[in-house]
Amino acid sequence: MSKGLFISFEGTEGCGKSTQVELLVQRLRALGYCVRKHREPGGTPIGEEIRHTLKHSQHNHAMTAETELLLMNASRAQLVREIIRPALAAGEIIVCDRFYDSTTAYQGYGRQLDLEKVKAVIEFAVGETKPDLTLFVHVPPEVSAERLRSRQENLPFVRDRIEEADRKFFERVARGFGVIAAAEPQRVKFINGAQPIETVCAAIWEHVQPVLPKLGRW
Ligand code: TMP
Repeated sequence: MSKGLFISFEGTEGCGKSTQVELLVQRLRALGYCVRKHREPGGTPIGEEIRHTLKHSQHNHAMTAETELLLMNASRAQLVREIIRPALAAGEIIVCDRFYDSTTAYQGYGRQLDLEKVKAVIEFAVGETKPDLTLFVHVPPEVSAERLRSRQENLPFVRDRIEEADRKFFERVARGFGVIAAAEPQRVKFINGAQPIETVCAAIWEHVQPVLPKLGRW
């Protein structure tokens, strides 16, 4: 059984989770914990190539929802075996910017693929490797859209195939995350991401602190 701790962050575009991932990692490292930070899709050399294909490649316009599902999980299967399992076995903390709940929300609810098939693909990719704690950073759709727009205006333009989806897609994704959070309240903690950064950070810490003593004692 793993001795480490696996924390994932989830949320819609522009919810602020990447900032919060960084703040949590810094805080844990300052306390002396051995922490690895990763993102999905990506996190390994193979996964980063898959990420490029999924998001930015000039040749990805015709990608089907099924291909998207399988590529997300190909990246995940690699990350789990190359990084996450060895790190957990060594008693380290893994903080992952998105994990399989994103597949349920985006490919299941967003792309409307069959939820049972989506679940089966996820299970094949992850096996027994599941997050101990998931922080679901929630912002209302209008905040999400506004932050996305401001990011697109202020950063050099990089085409992102997934961000090209319509508003209804992102509404379904948001609803999907809500269903996931409601179904697994022990693991998935709802965080109000529409607050100042320090307030969100403190809310996250309230959930992380109690699980830290379990490190090395799974
Ligand atoms: P991000 O790293 O900027 O959040 O970009 C990742 C994108 O990939 C984001 O639009 C959500 C999407 N995604 C899925 O659609 N399914 C998945 O399983 C994962 C991990 C991400």
